[in-house]
Amino acid sequence: MKRSRINEIIREGDAFIRSFGFRLPPFAYWSPRELADRRPEGIVGARLGWDITDYGQGRFDELGLFLFTVRNGRAADLARGSGMLYAEKIMISRKDQLSPMHRHVVKAEDIINRGGGRLVLQLHASRADGGIDADAAVTVPCDGVERSLPASDLLSLEPGESVTLFPGIWHAFWAEGADVLIGEVSTVNDDVTDNVFAEPLGRFSSVEEDEPPLRLLVSDYDRWMAGGAG
Ligand SMILES: [Fe+2]
Repeated sequence: MKRSRINEIIREGDAFIRSFGFRLPPFAYWSPRELADRRPEGIVGARLGWDITDYGQGRFDELGLFLFTVRNGRAADLARGSGMLYAEKIMISRKDQLSPMHRHVVKAEDIINRGGGRLVLQLHASRADGGIDADAAVTVPCDGVERSLPASDLLSLEPGESVTLFPGIWHAFWAEGADVLIGEVSTVNDDVTDNVFAEPLGRFSSVEEDEPPLRLLVSDYDRWMAGGAG
């Protein structure tokens, strides 16, 4: 994915988020140099920030997701059972843009339609070996009410509605009718290790540097914080 396209998606996504009255935290607007120089552990270590992914496939409009991690807790706290056990993301799923089928091992997440079009999810239970059980019904909490879906049914969330996805629930989603602003409230999140995809996909984009980055992506941190690049 070209850096110029990522920069464009960041500008468009920021405008879309603002159109709902949602504001990102100050570090969202730090330059790459400022972030690399200041490198607060609470941002860089927690991997907060911009995350534009095409899952390594180079077809962002059809297969991709805009994410911004607003907060993220500490894995050590999770092990202790108290402390900062939570995380929050704001995301944009574009109309007819697929976030591919995946599950998490550790993270439980609420996926919230915060506005725009309809958010449609395909859900599956896991087999004992962790694979997709394509024949089983799935029951998920939606805003405090359990909903049971026959195996082939889709879950459609209107603005304001949400679903809780526990670890092991396979899920893919896309927007219908219009782009959707999505909230995610979850357990502490490690995107490097906690995404299991149904198909062999990468979690992050591979970037072709055709212009300087407007903002660093979370997936740029290791290279930039090593002190060399840029
Ligand atoms: Fe997920």
